[in-house]
Amino acid sequence: MQTGLRGRDLITLQEWTRDEIDTVMEVALDLKRRRALGELHPLLRDKVLAMLFFFSSTRTRASFEAGMAQLGGHAQFIEAETTQIAHGDTAKEIGEILGRYNDGIAIRQVDWGVGNGYIREVAEASRVPVLNMQCDVYHPFQILADLLTIIEKKGDPRGLTINVSYAYAASYQKPLSVPQSLILLMTRYGMNVRLTHPPEFRLMPDIVAQAEANAKASRGSFEILTDFDAGFEGADVVYPKSWGSMLTTSDKAESARIGAKYQDWICDERRMALAKEDAIYMHCLPADRNVEVADAVIDGPHSVVYDEAENRLHAQKAVMALTM
Ligand code: CP
Repeated sequence: MQTGLRGRDLITLQEWTRDEIDTVMEVALDLKRRRALGELHPLLRDKVLAMLFFFSSTRTRASFEAGMAQLGGHAQFIEAETTQIAHGDTAKEIGEILGRYNDGIAIRQVDWGVGNGYIREVAEASRVPVLNMQCDVYHPFQILADLLTIIEKKGDPRGLTINVSYAYAASYQKPLSVPQSLILLMTRYGMNVRLTHPPEFRLMPDIVAQAEANAKASRGSFEILTDFDAGFEGADVVYPKSWGSMLTTSDKAESARIGAKYQDWICDERRMALAKEDAIYMHCLPADRNVEVADAVIDGPHSVVYDEAENRLHAQKAVMALTM
């Protein structure tokens, strides 16, 4: 267990050691147990987290805010749109100023080519930890919750096969941050990681290269498939979700045309049956129901989506309690 995390930023888990991530898992399980028992755990009494959103959220906002209250502190909800950030407050100013009012700054900025750089600029100027609530490249807190869920449902992840797959959705061009963070972290835990997507939906090459290196170091494996059905075959964990074709085109109309070719990439009961009998279905949510995933799967016996969403709370509380 690592005890020296006070003051640390969490922008990508690639910058945290395996020991440090294991510590988060241990603390998250402890806090989950304490909450189930009704034991108070005001580890951040009188501390304040600024939560700055450039993009909408249900789970992230609600779980960080609830988590800070349960830890005895407070969370400020700040939207870029309704503050002077929309009129010119710079990243440096936000880091300097919010860092003087608060004990942590959490940010969601998912604009392609902008988000990660913005969060790093705030972190550079901030005297308190900066937490990435999702950017264009990473979604570390979602993936901590995912790892916790896999450990709870399946035990040691080493040797398990996870299929991180594209699925079709029409709602909006979803960021690459979830699949990218998944392939980065699960390869560090010795999993056999399959990344399945049509050719136009590739991920950032340097992220893929890091996932390959992670798999080598952990003696797991990493492969890329282009056949949707093959991705499910024999998998222990399936994680089919939509993401955008940002690396193929920046044109929205072209992107919609490309996506429309893959409308049959829906996780249905037939596909689910290709995975292991006791496979779990995961999704970070929100999902486009009956487009990305059939109701029968997301509401069915393999689905762990509500436990997964709950684990956002426990994983985030662990990181906040350790860093703030
Ligand atoms: N999974 C996730 O980050 O959900 P929200 O977009 O609702 O926060």
